[in-house]
Amino acid sequence: MATLHREVTDAAVGALPSAVNPMALSLNENPFAPLPTVRSALVSAIDSGNRYPEFLPQKLRALIAERVGVRDEQVVIGVGATGVIMQVLSAVTSPGDKMVMTSPTFDGYPIFAQMARLESVTVPLDTHGHHDLDAMADAAADARVVVVCRPHNPTGTVESYADIERFLQRVPVDTVVLLDEAYVEFLTPHHRFDAPALVAQYPNVVVVRTFSKAYGLAGLRVGYGFCAPELARRLWAMQPPFGIAITGLVAVAASYDAESELQQRIRMITAERRYMRMRLRSMGVYSTDAQANFVYLPSWGRQWREVFADTELQVRDYADGGVRITVGNRQSTRAVLSAVRAALQ
Ligand SMILES: Cc1ncc(COP(=O)(O)O)c(C=O)c1O
Repeated sequence: MATLHREVTDAAVGALPSAVNPMALSLNENPFAPLPTVRSALVSAIDSGNRYPEFLPQKLRALIAERVGVRDEQVVIGVGATGVIMQVLSAVTSPGDKMVMTSPTFDGYPIFAQMARLESVTVPLDTHGHHDLDAMADAAADARVVVVCRPHNPTGTVESYADIERFLQRVPVDTVVLLDEAYVEFLTPHHRFDAPALVAQYPNVVVVRTFSKAYGLAGLRVGYGFCAPELARRLWAMQPPFGIAITGLVAVAASYDAESELQQRIRMITAERRYMRMRLRSMGVYSTDAQANFVYLPSWGRQWREVFADTELQVRDYADGGVRITVGNRQSTRAVLSAVRAALQ
């Protein structure tokens, strides 16, 4: 029996994805394994694994609120940004309501809409991979929720603050705007804006963020949202009891303590992205001006899928022939460039 248990454990451990895999470029994960300080804090949390976490994640909420610069009661915590988005949909929608999103968008959104039994209304991106914010504001007129991703997934493009403000002024106050900032930490300073000030001005905006991307904790599933206190009260009412694992608080605390090492990793990822884009451009291959941890190559007559099909690279291809490639290490970049070079010959 004991042997059988070990076998099952060995199989489960063996099935874990490897932390460092230069070919895994399809999910916009962080290419670095957790920092040693984060790892050791997590081990301590696991030692208390027989105990429940906080009934509601008040401490995590306070920690994040302080870092973001909002009041505790403006923050909600989720099982990833995914959990936050589902909490928003449970709190503010009824089956049959409309949810506006771009096409293409983060794969999760059509699934979330379906789970909440909403009608997805899709608005195509423009030819440069940007949101058509005017068309989205028109569609939002009779929708319950509208989603803007900044940076966008899959194109990595960033709408200007002025365009976002113009859009928000057109959206009805009873339509909730999900401003998805899953990749916000990768933005260059001139693309950043004061999100707490934005939610103070627009009571229907929920800013959604995650520890899955820049913080490299995708497997631990922690995300958060913040918004005006009145809306946050409704969202917090959907906070599942004991819903955030005991590892969540220490993982976030240790990550905040390791801010300078994490910033260094972010700089390495964005430098690698710039390098890949520059090399692609020198081969005559256009990619969008992606401000996240991935690049996006729009369709080019033939399908990018075919270019990567016979390689070991895992990338995310799109029905229209485009492809999104997560930035990994230099080995990943070399593999991408050599696949593209081979296709061009
Ligand atoms: C734009 C966007 N929003 C949300 C998410 C979900 O992230 P999480 O892992 O926090 O659930 C992703 C994940 O890829 C994403 O790209």
